Amino acid sequence: MCGIIGYIGAQKATPILINGLLRLEYRGYDSAGISTMEKNGLSVMKDKGRVKNLYDLDGINDLEGTIGIAHTRWATHGKPSKENSHPHLDNSKTFAVVHNGIIENYNDLRAFLIENGYTFYSQTDTEVIPNLIHYYYSKDAEKDEFKLLRAVQKTCKDLKGSFALQVLSKDLPDNMLVVRKDSPLVIGKGNGENYISSDIPAILSFTKDFYFLNDYEFAILSRDKIDFYDIDLNKITKKIKSIDWNASAADKNGYEDYMLKEIFEQPNAIRETIGSHLPENERCTFENLNFSKAFLQSINKIYIVACGTAMHAGLTGKIAIEQLCNIPVSVDIASEFRYRNPIIDKNTLCIYISQSGETADTIAALKLSKSKGATTLAISNVIGSSITREADYCIYTHAGPEIAVASTKAYTSQVMLLNILAIYFAEILESTPYSEIVKIKNEILSLPAKAETTLKCCNEIKNFAKNMYQEKDVFFLGRGVDYNTSLEASLKLKEISYIHSEAYAAGELKHGPIALIENGITVVSILTDELLVEKTISNIQEVITRGANTLVITNKTLPSNNIDKIVPIPDTHTSLSSILSIIPLQLLAYYISKEKGLDVDKPRNLAKSVTVE
Ligand code: F6R
Repeated sequence: MCGIIGYIGAQKATPILINGLLRLEYRGYDSAGISTMEKNGLSVMKDKGRVKNLYDLDGINDLEGTIGIAHTRWATHGKPSKENSHPHLDNSKTFAVVHNGIIENYNDLRAFLIENGYTFYSQTDTEVIPNLIHYYYSKDAEKDEFKLLRAVQKTCKDLKGSFALQVLSKDLPDNMLVVRKDSPLVIGKGNGENYISSDIPAILSFTKDFYFLNDYEFAILSRDKIDFYDIDLNKITKKIKSIDWNASAADKNGYEDYMLKEIFEQPNAIRETIGSHLPENERCTFENLNFSKAFLQSINKIYIVACGTAMHAGLTGKIAIEQLCNIPVSVDIASEFRYRNPIIDKNTLCIYISQSGETADTIAALKLSKSKGATTLAISNVIGSSITREADYCIYTHAGPEIAVASTKAYTSQVMLLNILAIYFAEILESTPYSEIVKIKNEILSLPAKAETTLKCCNEIKNFAKNMYQEKDVFFLGRGVDYNTSLEASLKLKEISYIHSEAYAAGELKHGPIALIENGITVVSILTDELLVEKTISNIQEVITRGANTLVITNKTLPSNNIDKIVPIPDTHTSLSSILSIIPLQLLAYYISKEKGLDVDKPRNLAKSVTVE
């Protein structure tokens, strides 16, 4: 949700800012804008539409400033328009601000400012911020270098909601000020220059050294130094973290779209995620975990909490943990969990999954369970992200930067890591026979190669997509782990092809949804669970009888029985099978979207990381 970029250095800021915005466009793409510090004051150039439209704005090439802030918007308050685009200026044009997040009490603040003579030119919640900064700044009789910091601190104390802010002041032409609360912001340290971004990949080609701000921490950036302050404006020190992602990992590398590239990166993403967790002839290890048998025995309930695709990975994690560890696991949608007063105590382990590590609902749910005494464990793909700093323990998927809005390699890496975590618990608890553990470990190690084999179905799926792209409704069926995969496959299709689809547990079909099956409708089924194959085959026959076209993804040998298309995938252990069976279905969603001529990487109304409620 909204991307922000900042630069302070010796180079012209504009090309760096626009380049950064293009790399961040997956966070929001309805408007874009930049503000640079020019000799004659602050310049602001912005408009609705994609970032590339900035190149056409009159005078953009004449900007000389070497300090600037920039924004790509995902509209919340006020429709996409030039006026509502960021950066926003205060009435006196002394301060320029970009903002990611939502100011919940902006109506009250706006009324207060109007009473005090301020005028508003947009419908955004953000415009109160530069004006409130001006309000406090103009009331401060001091003239020292911390005057802006004080005004921004007072402003932040008044704001309710979430914000990552970049502020420029024409009175401080060699500085930039940033602060955050519940919205992502990273500071990249360069040599004689510094960078700001919402996400690491956008500035990875400039630096690998990052600072991460906690809530209500401020940074004042100069070209060659960064000073940090807490909410009471005490100076604090922050540790730098080096990120080992390769800058080219955030490029398309010859693929037409990021999503296709990321689908094909899955064998490597799961290989990297397995990493060194499974040393030969030894117990599974996690560098950041040191759980004892007594601790795990004291856990009587596990919650896995996440949103969207990450929640679907959690559903399969539940199967793995319950089967191997004999601990009950509930999977919850974070936005529901945080408001339903879940039963949590010190014997509860809460596992939070978030690719970005910045999802607002997931972070809020984590904070809630911590306040109730649970032990919290985060699974994230982004080192230093907010969730990793909130949780008691943290383990990482190593999928590399995921840029396409629709999640693919993060999902399969999450399912992989959850399976490894289940083994880690089971080995400590001695809850599963050793021979079974060895079998699963061997299967895990064979998974990257099996994912490579699965990807060979690409052309077959591409051809099938040609028959499907005009569909209005598609159904996905499965049982057990295959039901979880159906949910994820259905989400993928919806979000990038805009085709309505539903996933059903195949056994539920007769309890209502079968009424929707009619001649010509496509039903996609997933069949990997040995114990449930026969049952699902019966359900497929029921839809064929009612005229459905059928596509089946399976690792079993099936009688063809009037099934229109069977896509075979390699066999594996049940709780790992989703890692393979989702691949043809990610490709299906991808190729249907391409057939429809849609923007696969930036589907309408969506943004990569959902940092507002
Ligand atoms: C779907 C998708 C979303 C995310 C969800 C959680 O393809 O990407 O459903 O999975 O917004 O995001 P993270 O994992 O960053 O918390």
